[in-house]
Amino acid sequence: MAHQNLVILTGSGISAESGVPTFRAADGLWMGHRVEDVATPQAFARDPALVQDFYNRRRRQLAEVQPNAAHRALAELAARWDGDLLLVTQNVDDLHDRAHAANPAAPGFDLLHMHGELLKAHCTITGRVLDCPGDLAPDQPSPFHPRGTLRPHIVWFGEMPLHMDRIERALGACDLFVSIGTSGAVWPAAGFVQLARHAGARTVELNLEPSQGSRLFDERIHGPATEVVPVFCSSL
Ligand code: APR
Repeated sequence: MAHQNLVILTGSGISAESGVPTFRAADGLWMGHRVEDVATPQAFARDPALVQDFYNRRRRQLAEVQPNAAHRALAELAARWDGDLLLVTQNVDDLHDRAHAANPAAPGFDLLHMHGELLKAHCTITGRVLDCPGDLAPDQPSPFHPRGTLRPHIVWFGEMPLHMDRIERALGACDLFVSIGTSGAVWPAAGFVQLARHAGARTVELNLEPSQGSRLFDERIHGPATEVVPVFCSSL
């Protein structure tokens, strides 16, 4: 069956084989920290030095990793896709961005980072976003407001994910929804499959193992992303 409007959701599993740890694995991305200590607005208010250091280290690690065959297969798909293709990632790394930069996408393509980006920061007062290639100090002054400081442009627990209007519109109009490398443990992304089903879309899960919402998908293909994603993309 030919599809026109495609929404793809990715999670940390797609970057695992690039060397970026997933969240809920035993050796996960929290690097031995409790989520409440590094990934909430309260944590930042309490100990900005600890939180900035945590994200500074993760930001530096990006220099050591490269997009893998799964990121590249999605970029190749985006370059040849005739219809609309929205790639929504929960990942804050820049591996999709780099894969797409190497392979310019067709006009109907867009990439949204719903949980923010490690390589960006925003002003604590105005919310304005800017590129952030290096470390941030605990009280890094904001160029946008005399009393503002800069914080990582990361959606922390208790905060609203980004671009939700756009994502929900695309889910309501898609005819194929593909979820790649996510455990389905975190909302609202965990509910995207239901929104796509309501729109009448075919739904496919590509993951190392069954996710929490696995049974909601029409098809489930389990295996490492670098193997299953290229094969699936070439089937489209
Ligand atoms: N290929 C495919 N899938 C994989 C691979 C791989 N090589 N390695 C691991 N996985 C799968 C795991 O089986 C798991 O189901 O990827 C999934 C990763 O799940 P999580 O660690 O829960 O990560 P994710 O779903 O991205 O987390 C969502 O939680 O805390 C937050 O904001 C954070 O964006 C993150 C969100």
